Amino acid sequence: MKKLIEVNVYVNDSMKFLLFFFFFILVACSKQTPTKNSDNNMPIASGVVMDGSVSSGSNSVAEQIRPNLAHVFRTSIARDINPDPNIVEINLEAKESIVEFSDGVISKVYAYNGVVPGPLIKAKKGDTLIVNFTNSLPESTTIHWHGLQLPADMDGAAVAQNPIATGGTFQYKFVLPDASLFWYHPHVRSNVQVEKGLAGPLLVSDKEEDVSLKLLPEHVLVLDDVLLDDLGEVQAPFAGTVEEVLLEKINGREGNVLLVNGEQQPTIKARIGIPLRWRIVNIANSRFMKLSLDQHKFTRIGGDGGLLTQAIPNLDSIMVVPGERADIIVVPQGEPGETLQLLWNDEDRGKHTVTIENGVVVMGHDPNDGRRPPIPLLNIELIENSIEPKALVLPEPLHEVEPIDTTGATVNTLVFGHSMPMPNGDIFFTINGKQFDEITSEDAPDANIGETQIWELVNMSAGDHPFHLHGFFFQVLDTVKKDGNGNVVMEIPAPPLENKDMVNLPGRPGPMGSSTTLRIAIKFDPGHRNPEDVLANGGIPAIVNADSVAGIKGHSGGWQFHCHILEHADGGMMSFMEIWQ
Ligand code: C2O
Ligand code: CU
Ligand code: CU
Repeated sequence: MKKLIEVNVYVNDSMKFLLFFFFFILVACSKQTPTKNSDNNMPIASGVVMDGSVSSGSNSVAEQIRPNLAHVFRTSIARDINPDPNIVEINLEAKESIVEFSDGVISKVYAYNGVVPGPLIKAKKGDTLIVNFTNSLPESTTIHWHGLQLPADMDGAAVAQNPIATGGTFQYKFVLPDASLFWYHPHVRSNVQVEKGLAGPLLVSDKEEDVSLKLLPEHVLVLDDVLLDDLGEVQAPFAGTVEEVLLEKINGREGNVLLVNGEQQPTIKARIGIPLRWRIVNIANSRFMKLSLDQHKFTRIGGDGGLLTQAIPNLDSIMVVPGERADIIVVPQGEPGETLQLLWNDEDRGKHTVTIENGVVVMGHDPNDGRRPPIPLLNIELIENSIEPKALVLPEPLHEVEPIDTTGATVNTLVFGHSMPMPNGDIFFTINGKQFDEITSEDAPDANIGETQIWELVNMSAGDHPFHLHGFFFQVLDTVKKDGNGNVVMEIPAPPLENKDMVNLPGRPGPMGSSTTLRIAIKFDPGHRNPEDVLANGGIPAIVNADSVAGIKGHSGGWQFHCHILEHADGGMMSFMEIWQ
């Protein structure tokens, strides 16, 4: 995408490679160098250099002097305006903007600070993040900080905050307790607002991270797709025939243009034999991203909540479902001048076909599900490496993740399903039989503060649902698939230990009546937060409470959880839970 309004920052790998060896010296200066001058500055030690020729706000000038940026890999960095080294303060404005997703085609979008995806917010573990947000959109919005353990009234979800009206402002302010890649996006009409461009990455680094990881050249890869119409505009939601509308609701919306950091198939340069670290987030409404790199294996070292205890080597592919993150290492091999391609691969996720026969909607299993040809996402141009590459030796353990002790844990069962689609285009997505706007405080699962629970996520539908919980990490226990008679047909043991906020809940294994149950463990521990910051205020489920309940600052209606296929979430597959003293 060619940006019309923003400064672009390029990762310069040769530079990074040199800096590799001067890391310690540079780190010392860069940590103290406030990066204040442009929206897109960042410390030089991380190997990113600035183009600097265009500054934000100079729209018309930018258009004239802007070089041809098509397919250039770029990362826009949010500018920290606070001199305190432990505070990252940024100004963020959501507004209508124009970008070029596809060559020569201008698309009207919603953007944070004029860029899609929104600028990368960089901070370190323990920092306070302050975001001075202005809503200049023609509609109301909020910002949800996906994956962060923050006070409930900073969560930006419907039970936490009233939508910020056009022209309104809000200051988000909270501590960043965990190191990982997170992301931010609206929680109001998210299927529309995220698709139109509102989503950005937030990278929280760890000063204490092992040097073998810290020294690796690193890219943040924001994976997305967007559905453009013939004129290049982001297609309106649920447009077209009843069949098309139902398909978009049932399967979620997938785009026809795939993007990495807002660009179609951009190119990065990589030194042969030098391990590359990729911090990946999938911000697409619905597209599952199964990634592969020809003849190469991936090592996964982390995910949603930070590093794994132990790296998982030799992976042919990595699946990143909507909302999820992956922290991976790949060692590029080949001849100088050769270009490798990071590919998107299809995976069966229970997609449907829809036909209307004699006024009745008939659903079938999409025969192309999982069979569509791969699509290139990113080019990796190999460059010669004059230095003998050293084998990557990772520390063991990589990271300490404390397993959640589930002895005596309360079990909470949540059933994911949907209604039969109707010939008028209606279909309702539900958790425990209710849509989000029908759920009251009585329906909401309760937890006592500090309590450990096991949640049984039961999928009665054929499609997969990427499950997300706000405000707390969980750990995946196991998955059991049962046929219509309740007999177990498959058991999947616990995956390697990690803290997550996303997990894919697979579709049922057979016809209606069969089911898949995935169990997760959650400890409702406020962690670094004040206990009152995670408590429910009681009685009022949503919308009206958060900032309006007199004198009960910091209490919200609770914590949302939902399917992260945004058409499902906004179609009702969303609920909330409440924590009590
Ligand atoms: Cu990323 Cu409630 O969502
Ligand atoms: Cu979230
Ligand atoms: Cu879903």
